[in-house]
Amino acid sequence: EAELYSEYKGVYIPKCLHPQESLQYMEGFAFRPDDIIIATYPKSGTTWMQEIVPLIISEGDMQPVLSIPNWDRVPWLEGQRAILLNLEQRPSPRYFATHLHYSMMPESFFKVKPKVIYVMRNPKDVFTSSYHYYGMASYLVNPGTTDQFMSKFLDGKVMFGSWFDHVKGWISAQDQDQTMYISYEEMILDLQKSVSKISSFLGKSLSQEVIGKIADHCRFQNMKQNSMSNYSMVPEEFMDQKKSEFLRKGISGDWRNFLTDAQAAHFDAVFKEKMGDVAFKFAWD
Ligand code: PPS
Repeated sequence: EAELYSEYKGVYIPKCLHPQESLQYMEGFAFRPDDIIIATYPKSGTTWMQEIVPLIISEGDMQPVLSIPNWDRVPWLEGQRAILLNLEQRPSPRYFATHLHYSMMPESFFKVKPKVIYVMRNPKDVFTSSYHYYGMASYLVNPGTTDQFMSKFLDGKVMFGSWFDHVKGWISAQDQDQTMYISYEEMILDLQKSVSKISSFLGKSLSQEVIGKIADHCRFQNMKQNSMSNYSMVPEEFMDQKKSEFLRKGISGDWRNFLTDAQAAHFDAVFKEKMGDVAFKFAWD
């Protein structure tokens, strides 16, 4: 672990994507009121939102998503590309992604209060997606067996720490009217309605035709074909998509195909223990 991850405010961060200078840059970052932040725990729908938000801002013009790789289109605030791309100088409205916990956001965020879209996903599916991803990405610690990885995951000994802490932090964010909560499951159920909700939140009024066009482009099978969004440009030594594709299955409930009844029951018991006091109504069963 120590080789691949550094520890930042108590959570593991992959060193090669988020070197020390990236974290420093993030800490000093100056937000603007019209910034849009996509916040997620890894494997919850980041890439999907990196496609949807630029298309809403461009009012359905496909050019940004067909010509700019997603990591430059919607860069990670805490990633090394943020410095290279000179994120601070980008014209408004800027949008970026972050896997940081709410409590780890830099000072300026709490003063400026930009808009946040927080995407959540059934943690058993986050676990399932993560397991495959940790097995194919060389910058992450090999997951071992399902049981071994589950004990690390439930303990928060994985990249970006505990799913439970991440979700609890963001759902208790102080500026609720500046924060939109949406789930991966809602997007699976009705993508068009989700795009419409996101565009209203961003103050963009788009025709049903444009919303339909955006939703269509962002469906799993279509997005999977977009080389600017399917990570096919990343070298195989870094992500071996022969082992598991980045856009792997794109469904909800895949945990049912992956976990035994005993594993699912154990996961649920830990969920209950950690989230018992949370009133938020999650959109999965
Ligand atoms: S990361 O590494 O944090 O950026 O990963 P993230 O993008 O958050 O999560 C990857 C999972 O999201 C699925 N995905 C999609 N599902 C449905 N529709 C679309 N368009 C879509 N795009 C990405 C992706 O397939 C991963 O989930 P799994 O379950 O592994 O398929």
